[in-house]
Amino acid sequence: MAMETKSAGPGRFARLDLSRIASPAFVIDTRKLEENLQILAAVSNASGAKILTALKAFSLWSAAPLIRQYLDGACASGIYEARLAKKYYFPDKTDGEISVFSPAYRQSDIESLSDICGHIIFNSVAQLEKYGPLLKGKNVQKALRLNPQIPLGEVATYDPSAAGSRLGVLLGDFDSGLLDQIDGLHIHNLCEQGLPELEKTVAAAMPLLTRAKGKLKWLNLGGGHMITSPHYDRDGLIKLLRHLADELALEIYLEPGTAIAFDAGILVGEILDITENDGLNAIVDISATCHMPDVLEAPYRPALLGEADKGVRVRFGGPSCLAGDVIGRYCLARTPQIGDKIAFLDQAHYSMVKTTMFNGVPLPSIMLWDSDDDSLQMVKTFSFDDFEGRLS
Ligand SMILES: Cc1ncc(COP(=O)(O)O)c(C=O)c1O
Repeated sequence: MAMETKSAGPGRFARLDLSRIASPAFVIDTRKLEENLQILAAVSNASGAKILTALKAFSLWSAAPLIRQYLDGACASGIYEARLAKKYYFPDKTDGEISVFSPAYRQSDIESLSDICGHIIFNSVAQLEKYGPLLKGKNVQKALRLNPQIPLGEVATYDPSAAGSRLGVLLGDFDSGLLDQIDGLHIHNLCEQGLPELEKTVAAAMPLLTRAKGKLKWLNLGGGHMITSPHYDRDGLIKLLRHLADELALEIYLEPGTAIAFDAGILVGEILDITENDGLNAIVDISATCHMPDVLEAPYRPALLGEADKGVRVRFGGPSCLAGDVIGRYCLARTPQIGDKIAFLDQAHYSMVKTTMFNGVPLPSIMLWDSDDDSLQMVKTFSFDDFEGRLS
């Protein structure tokens, strides 16, 4: 089953002159990013919940000074993201909190993470028992990830509650005695979802959460909340978060990634050649497998800037050797020409962080665009040295 793009449309990218962009390039609208951050800060202020930026989704560290103004901290997936969080986002513990969750840690990671992170979240009881004693005397709170066993995802790949999932201690196996060994519980069960799915997740965990009352300092409800989408019921979320904090007498954390960068970036490419086989094939300098791997993994069809309702149908594909390096089929108002610029919407999250240089396909450069004054700033370019530097 394919997923749908959640993009709410081009927004101000509709008026960006693509001829100013040397492709391939990610272009991030810093004003849209700030609008998303303002929404998240408003939810945090109204609900009392703390919001951490999930670096796995979006770790454009040139935006760290902006993000730091609005959010309470960062959550990392391991030692590299934790180091990035400390170096660029929250260098001092008084600036903000750094939390980490990884499905499994090495002992050497724990030693470094305990100097950086305020919260270390373990995926299993065995990891908690192995590494918990090493954290004695450190200023670190320990937590377990709970698998609420309520599958709500559109596709199993993005569903932590899917059958056979390796993520979290199963709700059915969770021994209440564990609550005396931890400071917090972590539940991440959603992917680009709304309040009803969060309510169902919380309801499934409620019997355990009620038993945990008075024992835990905090509950982290993970990411996957599309809070900055125009369709999200933010008032309902604020009510739920306030109610949970009061009822369970603990602090609530959220760690969204997608919601931070939602609709704040595009990937700009150029048509290099046009061939024909069961319709038009346009070969572009951006690749599904190298630059937007979720297009193939989810799979989903990214929205195209300026797609027409009717006109010429064309299949866009990348410059790699992979036969399936196909982005999707689109409708254009006029016949495409070699040299035309195109752009795919909502490419800031889970694209920039996942790029590869398979086939030596060049990485897109990174540009910041201020949609208020239309200024563009190049913040990163890549070269042959980056390709060579990954191999030996
Ligand atoms: C543990 C954890 N926290 C936070 C997130 C961020 O989720 P999203 O980017 O969907 O908001 C993820 C995403 O997979 C995750 O696995």
